[in-house]
Amino acid sequence: MAQVVGGYFTSHVPAIGGAIERGDQQEAYWKPFFDGFPPVRQWLAEARPDVAIVFYNDHGLNFFLDAMPTFAVGAAARYDNADEGWGLPVYKSFVGHPNLSWHVIETLVEAEFDITTCQNMKVDHALSIPFELAWPDVGAWPVKLVPIAINTVQFPLPSPRRCLALGQAVGRALRSWKGDERIMVMGTGGLSHQLEGARAGFMNPEYDRFCLDNLATDPAALTAHSAEEVAELAGTQGVEILNWITARGALGDAPQTMVMRNYHVPISNTAAATVVLEPA
Ligand code: DHB
Ligand code: FE
Repeated sequence: MAQVVGGYFTSHVPAIGGAIERGDQQEAYWKPFFDGFPPVRQWLAEARPDVAIVFYNDHGLNFFLDAMPTFAVGAAARYDNADEGWGLPVYKSFVGHPNLSWHVIETLVEAEFDITTCQNMKVDHALSIPFELAWPDVGAWPVKLVPIAINTVQFPLPSPRRCLALGQAVGRALRSWKGDERIMVMGTGGLSHQLEGARAGFMNPEYDRFCLDNLATDPAALTAHSAEEVAELAGTQGVEILNWITARGALGDAPQTMVMRNYHVPISNTAAATVVLEPA
């Protein structure tokens, strides 16, 4: 029987990739953020996941404003990263798990989620950076990938309630999967940040704390707001918390144990957070 071993959540700011490339992890600016990762790696070493279901948002690498799926599930045998213009290295490719992807897709469509299926899909910094943080210096990623992209970029956005429901349906798919893999989920992005417009630089530690305080034990609390209200509270890119809400849904309805939590303001323009949850 497959087992859902827990969830890893982190910000995915591109500048993290630059810090890794320069070896700046111990610099004063970066240390408080990178100090969150030894506990993540220790948890991964104990949880020994074989596959990662990753909830993230594409920032214009695979999808652009002309064709923007609300929810897109990868069903490829391989996923490549590519140059997005951030000046980052092109990161390692990922091995997919098409059979599990199709099981997730069939379960979601059966549950009346009208998703997009992608047998060809590039993955951007929102996926590669969390992997680089979790497994630095590996030759190949130790987990297979099922990527699930959520539109946090172009309005109208899915509601937090819909995202939690999608995640819960993914969780049902994982628990009904007949394989014997150890499955982890990831949610990337956030927390509060806004990159453009009159509120550029906006962050909201109070709302971030509300999210972090409720993620493990009462994720429904995060669905009290509409997507527009989340944009108001978290900033127009802080809506990436939708990825976290969806990933939390996939862990199931039972309260989770918070294995670790790190929060540091700012990394670039972002209030950065890292969390690991596991079944209580
Ligand atoms: C930044 C944050 C993001 O989530 C992103 O995708 C790009 C940039 C930033 O704070 O610089
Ligand atoms: Fe982002």
